[in-house]
Parts: sequence; C-alpha cells; structure tokens
Amino acid sequence: MKIALLGYGTVGSGVYDLVIKNREKIRNKYNEDIEVIQILDRNIDRFKDLAHYNVFVDSIDKIINGKADIVIEMLGGVNPAYDFVKKSLLSKKHVITSNKDLIAEHGEELRKIARESGVRIAYEASVGGGIPVLKPLKESLVGNDILSIQAIINGTTNFILSKMYNENMEYSKVLKIAQDMGFAEADPTSDVKGYDAARKITILTDLGLDFKINWKDIYCEGIDNIDAQDIINAKNLNSKIKLIAFSKAVDNKLYIAVRPVVVKADSTLGKIDNEFNGVMITGDSVGEVLFYGKGAGKYPTASAVFGDIVDIIINKNESKIVLSKENYEFTYKYPFKSD
Ligand code: HSE
Repeated sequence: MKIALLGYGTVGSGVYDLVIKNREKIRNKYNEDIEVIQILDRNIDRFKDLAHYNVFVDSIDKIINGKADIVIEMLGGVNPAYDFVKKSLLSKKHVITSNKDLIAEHGEELRKIARESGVRIAYEASVGGGIPVLKPLKESLVGNDILSIQAIINGTTNFILSKMYNENMEYSKVLKIAQDMGFAEADPTSDVKGYDAARKITILTDLGLDFKINWKDIYCEGIDNIDAQDIINAKNLNSKIKLIAFSKAVDNKLYIAVRPVVVKADSTLGKIDNEFNGVMITGDSVGEVLFYGKGAGKYPTASAVFGDIVDIIINKNESKIVLSKENYEFTYKYPFKSD
C-alpha cells in the first residue's frame, strides 16, 4: 500500500511516524508493505532538513497522477481539501481524512463518489480524535435503533473549561496552551464557538440516527461567554460546565444542539476532563455505551487515521472478491459464445 499525505502538520507528521513504527508489524500480520511515497505541502523548503525530504511534493497533480493507493487528507477546512479529495477518489485512490469540516459538508457526496469509483473513504479521526467511535456506531451497534447521543467532542473547549475549573486559570491563557499543544483548530473560533462540535455531532447523527442535516442549522452556543464567576457558580452546585453536543430522535423529530450545560461533577460526562472526549450512545438493545479517550492531539488523531489504513488493507481482500465476480461471469459465458 503506497500512501500519500496531504499536509504535514501536527496530525500529518504523527501519521508518518506511525507508518514507520508499524511497518514491520503490518508486514508480518497482513503481508502488506506500507510506505509513505509522497507528502504534499505548500512550502516544502521548510522540510529540507528531514531525512525523508525527497518524498515532499508541492503540487496535488503529482499525487493524483502518482502511484499512491491511499491519499490521507489532513489539511483541515473545506477548501482545497474538497477538490483534492474528490480528484483522488475519481482517480480510484482510497481516501482517509481527519477533516470534520469536509465530511460534515460533503460527506454524502464523497461517499457516493467513492462507491462509484470502487474505492473507500474513511474518516474515523474526524470525530473524537483517537477514540474509535464511528466504526462501532456503524458496525457493532447496527442492531440497535440509536435513541440518543450525548457527547463532549471538542478537546480544546473541554481543556479550557477543565483548567478554568481545576486551576482557576484564565480563559485566554488556557486557549493559548491548547493551541500550543496542537488541540485547537488553526482558527480556534471553530472550537470556542461550538462549530467544531456541531460538525462532529452532525457526522455522528448521520451515521447513528440516520438524519442528514446541515451543521449550520443546529442551535449552537460556544464557551466564549463563560467567565470565572460562571465556573464558581457551577462549583458551588457540585457541578461543572461542559460543552455538550447532543442529538435525540423522538417520533421522527430530531432534537440536536451544541451548548454549555451544567452537569454534576461526579456524573459520567462531568468526570471527563482536559482534552479527553466522551461519546455516550444509547441504543434500544444495548442501552448506554460510553466511548472515552483523547479527542485531540498528534498521536491520538494519528492513531485513528492509522486504524483506517489497516481497515482498508483488511477490506482489500473483500473488494478483490467483488472484482473477480465480473471476471467469473465473463469466463463463464465465453465457452457458450464460442459453442
Ligand atoms: N480542535 C479539535 C478539538 C481537534 O479540540 O477537539 C480534534 O478534532
């Protein structure tokens, strides 16, 4: 499996490291050689001291016309990611993306293009960072009607709220730390105003509750108006303020929102602190299931991307079976035609 990376920032460099680290394991376990053969970046000169500088390219065309089997998009934002992903799929390259903006706005269309091109688009890293939640929601929980999802799905805001609560730190100071640690978006407005969580709950709701909605239609309130006094007020009630994204279907109507909520400090969601995320899914058969882990950061997010690489490797055998069915019909009919 030859891999091209679009973007070599926090997540991109994490994915590169994981490919190097796991190469031998994947060879032994799946008899597959994984290799990063190209990395796209606008300014490749800044990487000239890296030992693998020779794989850097500065044009998407080199990737589209290149030999990669999998393109991993980690540019963030809708443009130019949308164009690059579409071109990759149309060139019959599998795509993995960590980009929630892209999937929330164009997921359905991109899935259709992938199906028609006979390749896959996978995006586990787009929600919950390192937590495997999309695959379980689509596959392991498929026997359930999903009744509701309640989630803390933005690491940056949870980190800010936790530091304000536990260490009395100032909002702006903690935001700066979250940026330095690679949790926050390039423009942290998406984090603090709740847009990032709105995009993610849209993706979860599509997969779990089968409602396709525009994230911009969701009631969305961020944490940028929360001050030290609000935190003290919550503390006095043995509670914490958390940015909660939730969706619930009742009588075929969807209730969905992102907003700060006061939760008991010792409740399940109340105990999720710092950059950790928690996604609580309620299914009619299974009851409540909690997915918990690091929702942002270099290696947690790279871990989810790497899981998608292996998923594509495992599923490659299945797609081979689909292809050989056509060949079978062809060879089966041939003797009849020549009779
Ligand atoms: N800015 C995002 C967050 C990164 O803080 O959760 C992971 O999607």
